[in-house]
Amino acid sequence: MESLYGGAMHRRVTILDLAAAKTRGEKWAMLTSYEQMSAEIFDEAGIPVLLVGDSAGNNFLGMENTIPVTVDELIPLTRAVVRASKRALVVADLPFGSYESSPDVALATSTRFFKESGAMAVKIEGAHLKTIEKLSGSGIPVMGHVGLTPQSLHQLGGYRVQGRIDGDNILEAAIAIEKAGAFAIVLELMSADLAGKITSALSIPTIGIGAGVNCDAQVLVWTDLMGLTKNPPKLAKAYRNMRGEMLAAAAEFALDVKTGEFPGPAQTYN
Ligand code: KIV
Repeated sequence: MESLYGGAMHRRVTILDLAAAKTRGEKWAMLTSYEQMSAEIFDEAGIPVLLVGDSAGNNFLGMENTIPVTVDELIPLTRAVVRASKRALVVADLPFGSYESSPDVALATSTRFFKESGAMAVKIEGAHLKTIEKLSGSGIPVMGHVGLTPQSLHQLGGYRVQGRIDGDNILEAAIAIEKAGAFAIVLELMSADLAGKITSALSIPTIGIGAGVNCDAQVLVWTDLMGLTKNPPKLAKAYRNMRGEMLAAAAEFALDVKTGEFPGPAQTYN
């Protein structure tokens, strides 16, 4: 694959393609997806990696944050994203409480995602090095995640920029995660300088979110990208105003029904 974008759609992107993109200095985009329509559209747009994030909790399942999300909730969403895409590498986020207690528990959870949803990789938050070794040694590619790790929201004292005091610890954790076998790593909510340092130190791709322009790739929560989120975080850029579009369309439909404009002749059977 000469580029992660464009080109033939006859096979899925692999972790080897992502490694090659880092070698040739090609930057790429990852998006979250939680269901069929967004997966179909982003896959058609050529987004090479789709993450079924536990951000489904507060962007799809009506929860306050990611902590309550369960494996049983995420597996059907992941299955829908895999079925609806042809080319993207689909990564499943392991939810809070489903992997931390031991590498064996993490392997059992990841195996469920692989068998029941067809996910091609998993993501885990934090430096669970033995677990990353166990999973990657068992044929399960692992995406790491350092900086702000939202599952540790209460331990971190909120959604705060990370690494201002302990930047070296985050750098060391990222290096250890690569050594343990991760194929890529998310860097969330840290200075562009720190993310740049980590990106230079690692040979695996870094994927930034609120981590500046120096990362190898960037990820956004899709509802933020499309302007659906009510109170988006500073790190997000809305490329469209779909909230406004959907509000207007729903109100127009309601009015058309009230006034008898819908259904019109085009939607009527004789
Ligand atoms: O769950 C998620 O969407 C994530 C991304 C923000 C990286 O972890």
